[in-house]
Amino acid sequence: MELGLSGKTAIVTGASQGIGLEIARALHAEGVGVVMVAQSTRKLQDAARALASSSHAGQVAPVVPLVADLTLRAEIDRVVEESIQRLGAVDILVNNAARAHNGNFFKMSVEELETVWQVKGLGYVRLVRTLAPHMMERQSGSIINIIGSTARMPTTDFVVGSMVNAALVNFTRGISRELAQFNVRINAISPGWTMTERQEKSIALQSAARSLSVEQVEREEARGIPLRRLVRMSEIAAMTLLLASDIFPSMTGEDIVIDGGAIPSI
Ligand SMILES: NC(=O)c1ccc[n+]([C@@H]2O[C@H](COP(=O)([O-])OP(=O)(O)OC[C@H]3O[C@@H](n4cnc5c(N)ncnc54)[C@H](OP(=O)(O)O)[C@@H]3O)[C@@H](O)[C@H]2O)c1
Repeated sequence: MELGLSGKTAIVTGASQGIGLEIARALHAEGVGVVMVAQSTRKLQDAARALASSSHAGQVAPVVPLVADLTLRAEIDRVVEESIQRLGAVDILVNNAARAHNGNFFKMSVEELETVWQVKGLGYVRLVRTLAPHMMERQSGSIINIIGSTARMPTTDFVVGSMVNAALVNFTRGISRELAQFNVRINAISPGWTMTERQEKSIALQSAARSLSVEQVEREEARGIPLRRLVRMSEIAAMTLLLASDIFPSMTGEDIVIDGGAIPSI
């Protein structure tokens, strides 16, 4: 399928690892110039170097690592300003950065609770508010919010994260009408439990300790998921490419759940 993304530009937040890095890789492989944002310098620079040196059929799209703390308003302004300056313009925004704190709500510190909200909730909203006027002026743009299926069904060990996710689905739907007047689309992808590098390591450790195959451990872990598998990061990245492209020019304000059928809600 011809996505027509070559030569476009994107900001991907939380791109030093996990889903964000996979999305940055997939966009770059399509010839998209990518600003990768994360908080830890070393990890981000290593990831950006690896991306820039990977050869995708001679693609020479730029890769720009930007270290920033997305809980701070001034840092968000700087990310947007620098991205426009370094890439010329920004066609695609992928909001993905999060600092998750799982566990019992009453055992969470107030600081942890606030961080979850500030990085993901406020972080996504502030980035849209700061970057969207640039897209609106150009009458073109695609924003993709990576949210999470707990938006539809909160879990007891992820109450605050689930609340933030629900708020972001509502924000995505709510702001889509305003942005549509300027031909800017905003959609969300809500992954279920995803096989990130961290998850892969944990399954590999269990498989070694219990003399079970990796597939057996995954099926066991995923017993509550109808498709009996964890979501692959490549699935989220592939959906991001579709939403970033002009393949669905009529689609906005949607939240696409990719969770192995775990949450059967509307
Ligand atoms: N993994 C899953 O099973 C799953 C399921 C549903 C939804 N999701 C959602 O998918 C997204 C990605 O998940 P993931 O598991 O791939 O995440 P992850 O591995 O925990 O990575 C989070 C990324 O966010 C960055 N980040 C955190 N706080 C930041 C801050 N203050 N400023 C700038 N960057 C910051 C991290 O940067 P550093 O490298 O500097 O730490 C890292 O690059 C998240 O929104 C998550 O809620 C994930």
